[in-house]
Order: sequence, then C-alpha cells, then structure tokens
Amino acid sequence: MLGEQKVSYSGVQPSGNLTIGNYLGAIRNFSEYSEQYKTFYCVVDQHAITVRQVPAELRRRTYETLALYMACGLDPEKNTLYVQSMVHEHAELAWILNCFTMFGELSRMTQFKDKSARHSDNINAGLFTYPALMAADILLYQTDVVPVGSDQKQHVELCRDIAERFNQIHPGTFTIPEPIISKHGMRIMSLADPTKKMSKSDENANAVVYILDDRDTIIRKFKRAVTDSGSEIRYAPDKPGVSNLMTIYSCFTGKTMEEIEREFDGRGYGDFKLAVGEVTADALAPVQERYHALLIDKAALEEQMKKGAEEASRCARRTLYKVKKKLGFVQL
Ligand code: TRP
Repeated sequence: MLGEQKVSYSGVQPSGNLTIGNYLGAIRNFSEYSEQYKTFYCVVDQHAITVRQVPAELRRRTYETLALYMACGLDPEKNTLYVQSMVHEHAELAWILNCFTMFGELSRMTQFKDKSARHSDNINAGLFTYPALMAADILLYQTDVVPVGSDQKQHVELCRDIAERFNQIHPGTFTIPEPIISKHGMRIMSLADPTKKMSKSDENANAVVYILDDRDTIIRKFKRAVTDSGSEIRYAPDKPGVSNLMTIYSCFTGKTMEEIEREFDGRGYGDFKLAVGEVTADALAPVQERYHALLIDKAALEEQMKKGAEEASRCARRTLYKVKKKLGFVQL
C-alpha cells in the first residue's frame, strides 16, 4: 500500500517484440488495473544485462518497449511508466536483499537453471541473483499485487519469502506481495504447435504473430497455421489448432464461440484462417500507427522517461530510507 492505495507492480523486459499473446493476455487489460490500483510498469534494463547485450540495441529496445506499451493503451497519466536503471534505489535495495536471500533458494530457481544451461559461457553472479533485484523492484513500492506470466511465479514467491524474512527481523518494513497469474495469458497458443504457448522467443517465426507484424505477414502466418483433422470450425478439445484460432478471433471481435461456429458453418479452414488474419491485422493497425508516431518523437519519450523515473523514485526513496534506518546504516 502507498498511502490509501493498493499497488500493482510489473516489470517488462526491453525486448520490443511482443506477441498477440502478450497483447490479448496482458497488455490489453492494463487499463482495468489502473482503475483499481496505483500501477507501476518498469522496463527492466538492469535485468536484461544478465545476458550479453549489444548496447545500441538495448538502448533502442528500451525506447521501443516504452513506445509499444503506450501504443497498446498504457496511459502515462494513469500509470507510472519508467526505466529501471534511471531509479538508483533498485540497485541499492537489491544489494541489501542479496544479504537476505539464501544461496539454496537461488539455486532452486528454474529460470536460473534454464538460462545457465543456455548461456553456459556466461553464468555470472547477476544471473544467479536476478531474483533479488526483482524482489527489490517489487518491494520498493510496497506492492500488493504482481501481475506476471506463470514463468515468473516462482520469483514472486521467493520475493515473498525474502520480504517475510526481512519483516521478521525488522517488523513492518515491507508489504507482502501476491502474484496474479493472468488467466488469459496462457490462452494464446503457438500457430505451429497449438499445445505450446505462443512465445516471443520461438525459433519458428511462423508460430508467432507479433504486434508489429505488417498486414501481409499476419495474414500469411495465419494461412500457414496448423489446423486439425476434419474440416469444421468447432471449439473442442480434440481441435486445439482451430480452437486457438477461434480464441484469437473471439478476442479481437468480441464474438462468442457459438457465434463463430455459426458464422463459419459449412465454410472451410481456408476461409476461416483468412478471416482470423484480417481481424487481427485490422485490430493491430491503430496500435502500430500510434507506435510509429510515438517512436519518432524521441524527445517526448525521453520527457516521459524522466517524469516516470522521478515519480517512481519519490516512492522508492521512502522505502529505502526506512530499510537503511532499520539496518543500522548511518543516515545524515
Ligand atoms: N523477470 C520478469 C520477466 O522476465 C521481469 C521483471 C523484472 C518483473 N522485475 C519485475 C516482473 C518485477 C514483475 C515484477 O518477465
């Protein structure tokens, strides 16, 4: 809680290539959160450097990520939108929390195990203590809820354990956060393998539709989407491919599954796939237009970053002051 308001906090990687799964599952619902909570969205460039980055690309993607979230409807007047490295309190609290995080706990993190297998030439300490920085992000803002994908649930649970451990020694320091795993987030599946979640890092480019894909690409990807045996458009467990396409169609048009079944009754997969491609491209066109307009005005984006960082820092500072005092650091 910050004052009277409940806080929602989420971090986003500066990858700049979000999928329609991210859009439909999470980003599109952000505006609902800002009505219920004081909301923070942080572009986590400090987490990004736990694997090697090309500096110019990291910088470009930081701008792009900010612009994309804003284009998707995140209103900077209603949400605090900022870049992690611009608010020094994060790194400062992360060090402190490192001293309240156990080696054994970090060793059990599945993301660490996966990433150290994939980047075996660079298993650095930052990759290992990544969750302590993430806990600092969350705890600095006295966060009540953390909306994340299911892959981040373990990190949020570790954050709770760290906060509880700290509070046990220094009562009343941190709000204990609760993960919120988005139900819809899981629902959009890969176009190449509908038993797998659509993932922005999929090696098969045809499996994933990105928010910034152009119209022709979107339509082509849907044309190539795998479907199921038979030929009817029906929402059913034995038709995972068609069901996934129906979910996407339903999300973009607001139509129910029954309405979609009726609309495509007696028509084949080809017609249906083209229709899904068209509604997707139509829905994304205004997002893409806003994105390009935002990105071209770098000065305005920088102004936004500055404003966001000042606002975030104002909240973060209070928590950090309290923490340092409790620890016995001399504060002048
Ligand atoms: N680790 C998260 C991810 O990879 C991003 C993240 C960083 C985050 N800090 C956070 C998410 C704080 C929620 C809250 O997706």
